[in-house]
Amino acid sequence: MEIEFQRVGKKYESGQEALSQVSFHLQQGEMAFLTGHSGAGKSTLMKLMMMIERQTSGQILIDGVDLRTLSRRAIPQHRRRVGVVFQNHQLLFDRSVFHNVALPLQVSGADPQQIAKRVRAALDKVGLLDKEKYNPMALSGGEQQRIGIARAVVNKPQLLLADEPTGNLDPKLSAEIMNLFQEFNRVGVTVLVASHDLALVARMRHRVLTLSHGRMVNDGGFGS
Ligand SMILES: Nc1ncnc2c1ncn2[C@@H]1O[C@H](COP(=O)(O)OP(=O)(O)OP(=O)(O)O)[C@@H](O)[C@H]1O
Ligand SMILES: [Mg+2]
Repeated sequence: MEIEFQRVGKKYESGQEALSQVSFHLQQGEMAFLTGHSGAGKSTLMKLMMMIERQTSGQILIDGVDLRTLSRRAIPQHRRRVGVVFQNHQLLFDRSVFHNVALPLQVSGADPQQIAKRVRAALDKVGLLDKEKYNPMALSGGEQQRIGIARAVVNKPQLLLADEPTGNLDPKLSAEIMNLFQEFNRVGVTVLVASHDLALVARMRHRVLTLSHGRMVNDGGFGS
């Protein structure tokens, strides 16, 4: 998936200006990091891509299509093409690992055999195939995070957005999670990862976009 922001602004109803004049272009199949201080606008930028929030100025083009021109029916279709990983993985503790990963497929009405196949393929990718029957509460923080990733990729998204996916993890687990994203990127998925962890970001040697007070202040290679 290809993404282009053209002078995008977002002012919340509270009057808070979260983004202003943000422009960047992510090519199909590219991987990049998004950094910036707390409150810089990283999550807002991702919410605009998911159409959870709407920009108040400028244009967002996804594969050349202006998001504002999408019909109501096209919005869920758009969301299905995007996988999202949250910091607080948002797993449901009243159901098994398998059913947590299956959720996006059930929402889109796939048949049960197809669901089982896809869920196991996604769990296999994150190395947790043997944990499908567990309750996610019985797993470590890193394992829970990987289940969140399996759920984000089970629909085979063309764009993977991860918002602070390694927030609570130790450096070794963080590096493993980043390697997973790289593997998805290698098979053609466009990947954007928001992270505070500048050292980790610099080690990954990918393009780094930096927001400060809602403005894109740096768009370049490899962080500092
Ligand atoms: N729903 C909302 N209503 C009003 N203001 C909001 C809302 N969501 C975010 N903001 C404000 O917009 C600004 C950007 O917030 P955002 O969550 O995008 O930052 P962030 O870079 O993701 O920060 P963090 O690193 O802490 O997650 C902040 O000033 C925040 O208070
Ligand atoms: Mg955030």
